[in-house]
Amino acid sequence: MDEVVRLAEAEQVPPCSIVIFGASGDLAMRKLIPALYSLDCCGERLLAEETMIVGCARRQMTIEEFRRHARDGIERFSNAPLREACWERFAARLDYLSGIESPESFHHLKARLEQIEAAGALPPNRIFYLALPPEAILEWVKRIHDAGLIWPPQGRGFSRVVVEKPIGVDLASAMAINQGLHQYLDESQIFRIDHYLGKETVRNLLVLRFGNSIFEQIWNAHHIDHVQITVSELEGVGTRAGYYDHAGALRDMVQNHMFQLLTLIAMEPPVSLGAEDIRGAKLNVLRAIKPLTPEEVHGQVVRAQYTAGHVDGRVLPDYLKEQGVAPDSATETFVALKLFVNNWRWSGVPFYLRTGKALARRASSVAIHFKPLPAILFAERHSLPANVLNLRIQPDEGFSLSVIAKQPGLDLSIRPVQMNLQYEREFQARLPEAYEMLLYEVMTGDQTLFVDSEMVERSWRFVQSILDVWRREGRNGMATYPAGTWGPEEAEEKLMPNQCAWIEP
Ligand code: NDP
Ligand code: BG6
Repeated sequence: MDEVVRLAEAEQVPPCSIVIFGASGDLAMRKLIPALYSLDCCGERLLAEETMIVGCARRQMTIEEFRRHARDGIERFSNAPLREACWERFAARLDYLSGIESPESFHHLKARLEQIEAAGALPPNRIFYLALPPEAILEWVKRIHDAGLIWPPQGRGFSRVVVEKPIGVDLASAMAINQGLHQYLDESQIFRIDHYLGKETVRNLLVLRFGNSIFEQIWNAHHIDHVQITVSELEGVGTRAGYYDHAGALRDMVQNHMFQLLTLIAMEPPVSLGAEDIRGAKLNVLRAIKPLTPEEVHGQVVRAQYTAGHVDGRVLPDYLKEQGVAPDSATETFVALKLFVNNWRWSGVPFYLRTGKALARRASSVAIHFKPLPAILFAERHSLPANVLNLRIQPDEGFSLSVIAKQPGLDLSIRPVQMNLQYEREFQARLPEAYEMLLYEVMTGDQTLFVDSEMVERSWRFVQSILDVWRREGRNGMATYPAGTWGPEEAEEKLMPNQCAWIEP
């Protein structure tokens, strides 16, 4: 059957006002505005006619300037072409309020929203997107609350708040942020973004696992030897040293994006596709990952910084010589680690995670390595590579299964071959951007693709056990790797058992 089974229609979202705080910033222009434009102008055109987008920031800008800025963002960063007729309609939705900072200024915002709602005879459905530096989050939520812009979930209309990563810089600060948010908001009103969860290929992980009967039978410690999750980035720290040199790969990528991938790979089948059941099943994975002891940190975690090297035809300097990086920085640009999910399904199966900047290629993947063949029949004299299911998150989205096959001929020669699905060839459609998906879900009020407070804290608990050791040890134990390679040798030598190696994603 090659008929499409439509389980849920993409529906028109309810009319609402989307307030973007930090609208003058990078995230708003590179991701949020282009995503809203696509929702308005591509495919089913899902934004309701009356929906308005109110950019707010401290910077002085006229509405015309904001619209020009937005158009530029769409032209440069959207994967949908800018069409004049669509742009005209979208531009009319854009409003901008500058000087939004003091508690009084939030009353201007309130008046503006009420004006918009009255003009369109709209219910007061409001979304507040905090595209702000993390330190501003709690103060802004308080100001939104104190100005009477949000109300409990049972009130008229809906009011929702979207919070970006990073949620905190360690376990204590993450707990404080969650507590602060809960002072003003019900958990059902909080949408914590992890943009990896909006990627098509990440959303497909559930479908692949639970929409096919063949995988569930073998998705366990009896059949799986180990799992490798790689998120490799080509770019160095670039212009983000101010943030990155205080974060590092473990906080920036592992605590959030990589742990979210891990939960989707390791979770039990949820009892339904409802948000509560899916998030509950993911949470159980995090509950089964124990923080590491200092000895385990030494044996199971490798951290490194890049040194000068060639990346994509350009020369990158040593990380320590990048602009904005402290010359004695102990921030890792690469981390690789081994962990275990201590439950019945995964007992004894190592999960290897690695991520870094300035690596050989941009490539994210999850590779499921099945157990090797017993040394009989075809593998009696020569060991054969085990089957690997390689889920390519990006780029070249798709997945492949390596199997052993007979090479045609009168002799008996066998070799691994790839069964490969490429999204581009198979679906021939534009892949929605992650933020497009996530903004759509915020508007429909579905929390499945968002992270709840316990998930945030559970993953910090694990990461904290590593940070504590690193803090005590400063730069001791920091490895290096030339920019443009796959990372330090220690990631292989220290973590991988004899017959195992990182695969190129
Ligand atoms: P920016 O540095 O570009 O800041 C966004 C805007 O916030 C600025 O334009 C500024 O506007 C305002 N701002 C800056 N400092 C403060 C402050 N102390 N108080 C209130 N407002 C302030 O950041 P990004 O847009 O890159 O990121 C926003 C958030 O999204 C951050 O939490 C970041 O970690 C997260 N994020 C960003 C990603 C990206 O691709 N950029 C990806 C994933 C997460 P003004 O001065 O005009 O008020
Ligand atoms: C962000 C990190 O969350 O994710 C960045 O802060 C990283 O450092 C980015 O580059 C990677 O996202 P993507 O979608 O490009 O893989």
